[in-house]
Amino acid sequence: MEGILLVYLYKKVRCYNLIVVSEVKMLSPFYLWLAVIFIISRSNASHLKNNGVFPKKFIFGAATAAYQIEGAWNEDGKGESVWDEFVHRSPSPIANNETGDVACDSYHRWKEDLHLVSNLGMQYYRFSIAWTRLFPDGYVGKKINQAGLIYYKKLIQEVVKLGLMPVVTLFHWDLPLKLYQDGISWTNDSIIDIYVNYTRQVIKHFPEVSIWITVNEPRIYCRYSYGLGTLAPGIKESGILDYQCSYVILKAHAAVYRMYKKEFPLYKAPMSIVVDCQWYEPETNKTADIQAADRQQQFECGMYYHPVFIGDWPSVVVERVAERSKKEGYKKSRLPKFTMEEIKFIRGTHDYLAVNHYYTFLAADEPEAPYNHTDYDNDVRVINSRSPDWALASNKYAIVPWGVRRVLNWLKQQYGNNMIIITEMGTSDDGSSLNDYERINFYCDYFCEILEAMQIDRVKVIGLSVWSLMDNFEWNAGYASHFGLYNINFHNDTTLRRTPKRSVGFFKMLNKTRKLHCSGYKGNWTEPNWGPHGKEHYSYDNRLHRSHKL
Ligand SMILES: *[C@@H]1O[C@H](CO)[C@@H](O)[C@H](O)[C@H]1NC(C)=O
Ligand SMILES: *[C@@H]1O[C@H](CO)[C@@H](O)[C@H](O)[C@H]1NC(C)=O
Ligand SMILES: *[C@@H]1O[C@H](CO)[C@@H](O)[C@H](O)[C@H]1NC(C)=O
Ligand SMILES: *[C@@H]1O[C@H](CO)[C@@H](O)[C@H](O)[C@H]1NC(C)=O
Ligand SMILES: *[C@@H]1O[C@H](CO)[C@@H](O)[C@H](O)[C@H]1NC(C)=O
Ligand SMILES: *[C@@H]1O[C@H](CO)[C@@H](O)[C@H](O)[C@H]1NC(C)=O
Repeated sequence: MEGILLVYLYKKVRCYNLIVVSEVKMLSPFYLWLAVIFIISRSNASHLKNNGVFPKKFIFGAATAAYQIEGAWNEDGKGESVWDEFVHRSPSPIANNETGDVACDSYHRWKEDLHLVSNLGMQYYRFSIAWTRLFPDGYVGKKINQAGLIYYKKLIQEVVKLGLMPVVTLFHWDLPLKLYQDGISWTNDSIIDIYVNYTRQVIKHFPEVSIWITVNEPRIYCRYSYGLGTLAPGIKESGILDYQCSYVILKAHAAVYRMYKKEFPLYKAPMSIVVDCQWYEPETNKTADIQAADRQQQFECGMYYHPVFIGDWPSVVVERVAERSKKEGYKKSRLPKFTMEEIKFIRGTHDYLAVNHYYTFLAADEPEAPYNHTDYDNDVRVINSRSPDWALASNKYAIVPWGVRRVLNWLKQQYGNNMIIITEMGTSDDGSSLNDYERINFYCDYFCEILEAMQIDRVKVIGLSVWSLMDNFEWNAGYASHFGLYNINFHNDTTLRRTPKRSVGFFKMLNKTRKLHCSGYKGNWTEPNWGPHGKEHYSYDNRLHRSHKL
């Protein structure tokens, strides 16, 4: 009866399970039974928890946006965007009066930056095209700006040469200023044809692109640019122009998608719209709070996905805005109504589902505000708070890893089992240290929950890009928040040197092995051997391509 039995034990490591093989010597059937009972009792954990491994086909990437990294705001024939005008206003609407005039200087250092992506072992690079680099005043009638065209041509060619997939955002908030001055803005249908004409040129010139994104985060863009006025062009018409923007931007997205499918039948790259979808957890189990959480989810996330994946606005949004509009004395709802043709035109304009996720809040029902005041927040009617148990990142957002699993499940439940790419996810540090353990913990815990969603809940997540490749101009926060895997010291280092934070090692390892290496826990961190960090400045010679004539 003597023999050796290999016993597979599931060892719990943070939120996933490692398989550990043990040898057990069998002396008698008694021990054999003991081993079997032991295995059964231990293996229970495994059917609940993931194995910490991403599939080989899963694509990881790093994300950026033109205005946040390029700089060179007025070089080589580039026109001004509303952002160029906004940051130069006096008084400045940006923290510390900062601007994106130079930002990371990626217009000159693009080659170095692509090597940073490649150094991480990523499979794709997500970046955006600055409309005004190609068409300085936004209109397509005139000739394309050659310097801008060559810049993106070279960039995309190098991305491909490095074995990375180019993932391109067509509009990441930098509307040409001339259009805006001519009254053509995201609150007016007249922008749609012009936007389609611009995107047609981009698509035509860059057939190498692997994945297309029409618009980045219309919720943030419409709400903050046309409702609250904290993003360019700084309009404050909450509850009116923010809805008008959502309406126009959805039609513009659909028009680009339809043009692409019709005019570029040989292109294989999938196209979609990126929606940022946060998570709202009911604060209590009271029906009113559960409804409040759902209402906010529909007002933010559903506002864009519902028209694209199902058709028309979510009904709770239609009802709320209509009800308040009436009581506030408007003749019709402040939420524009889609015609039947528009509903059909927008429905189905997606090849995958793209979502950005950053944070979670508790949501509670709020009493109805008086009807003498129009405001988007009064339409939503929800109070947000954070649980005191939640850890806060340095940007004051709560770190709630299970929020992403709930978002992914919500997306599946609402819109079906689409292929999902998480196009942005990240956290910021305060820039004071390269030892960004907080970020590594963030990604460990969030990735565990994404794996739970994939392996346990069967949500089809196929890729994820981190926000962001490197510290950059974070819109109205200026350079104060540091979302990058690479640090840039904007204030004290005029060379804008990119220095790897520790999380660079984490991503190198993840990309190489496809496995999470998160064995340490919080304060008790045991760092795997990730190779050098901090000192390993990327050695690409900037001067070479600075002088390299485009
Ligand atoms: C096994 O998992 C189930 C489902 O969650 C749980 O209720 C049960 O307590 C677990 N049993 C053991 C022995 O851990
Ligand atoms: C920003 O500019 C204003 C003048 O427009 C000046 O008074 C203020 O001190 C500046 N703030 C910083 C942080 O530089
Ligand atoms: C759109 O712009 C045109 C002319 O530029 C103007 O007549 C029209 O009122 C605008 N529509 C809206 C909804 O602002
Ligand atoms: C868009 O392009 C088409 C075809 O080139 C042209 O006929 C049309 O006038 C353009 N629209 C605008 C608004 O520029
Ligand atoms: C709500 O109810 C569920 C199960 O009934 C429970 O697990 C959860 O903790 C409750 N949530 C709150 C905030 O009370
Ligand atoms: C609206 O009415 C409330 C009380 O009825 C009052 O306190 C508030 O100041 C009013 N707000 C505006 C903007 O008029």
